[in-house]
Amino acid sequence: MTAQHHTELQNLPPDLKPELLPRHVAVIMDGNGRWAKRQGLPRFMGHKRGVDALKDLLRCCKDWGIQALTAYAFSTENWGRPQEEVDFLMTLFQRVLRQELREMVQENVQIKFVGNLSALPQSLQEEISRSMERTSENPSIRFTVATNYGGRQEILHACRAIADQVKQGLLQPHEIDEATFERHLYTAGIYDPDLLIRTSGEMRISNFLLWQMAYAEIYITETLWPDFDRTEFYRALCAYQLRERRFGKI
Ligand code: IPE
Ligand code: IPE
Ligand code: MG
Repeated sequence: MTAQHHTELQNLPPDLKPELLPRHVAVIMDGNGRWAKRQGLPRFMGHKRGVDALKDLLRCCKDWGIQALTAYAFSTENWGRPQEEVDFLMTLFQRVLRQELREMVQENVQIKFVGNLSALPQSLQEEISRSMERTSENPSIRFTVATNYGGRQEILHACRAIADQVKQGLLQPHEIDEATFERHLYTAGIYDPDLLIRTSGEMRISNFLLWQMAYAEIYITETLWPDFDRTEFYRALCAYQLRERRFGKI
């Protein structure tokens, strides 16, 4: 994205209606490896460029008044990749977080990490805690990064916590409703995503936000994640605004 391009689309494009914008956008940032391969570059270069695309999307959401962005950075299944790639990603997350924290504080971004964070390298965990503490009161946009995240694991995690409360006599089984359950999810307090974007053409959820996605509108583009820019996001929002969300009614 060039600086000029950024200024052109700094404000909400006139054909997007603020009242029809999603409150919460979730993205499965897929296709970094294929992007690199197409350029004749090693896979890790795709991940590096992917970070730039995410930074730009976060800024764009902020500029256009979207209240929450959630990005899938590393799934519980991604540990199955070659060790070299896993190590590169962990180091990349840590470095980017350290570099970007100051700007996120300045820009009033509230960053939160979700997933089984205790299995991440210790130094990354420390960077994560620091960034969450420093930005926890920030009002402008809620930016959630799913790292070592799995939708099924999140549901199990909630079940165990609720079972524990029942065991202690704090809760009766018949009192467990959707609201109880949601309070125990990693995403407690954030609206469910209105729009899920997946890049690189894959038509699957890959264990992302299984509970929360119940009524998300799904938008899939062939564009590979490092090429997903403001213009692409604008297209996704245009498509979203044409959807009729019925929630089971007629
Ligand atoms: C998504 O890009 C990034 C992560 C899963 C960390 P991929 O690395 O999955 O890219 P492809 O799917 O191999 O092209
Ligand atoms: C989903 O992408 C996970 C992230 C984007 C972090 P994958 O590339 O891991 O998903 P699959 O393997 O194609 O389902
Ligand atoms: Mg992939």
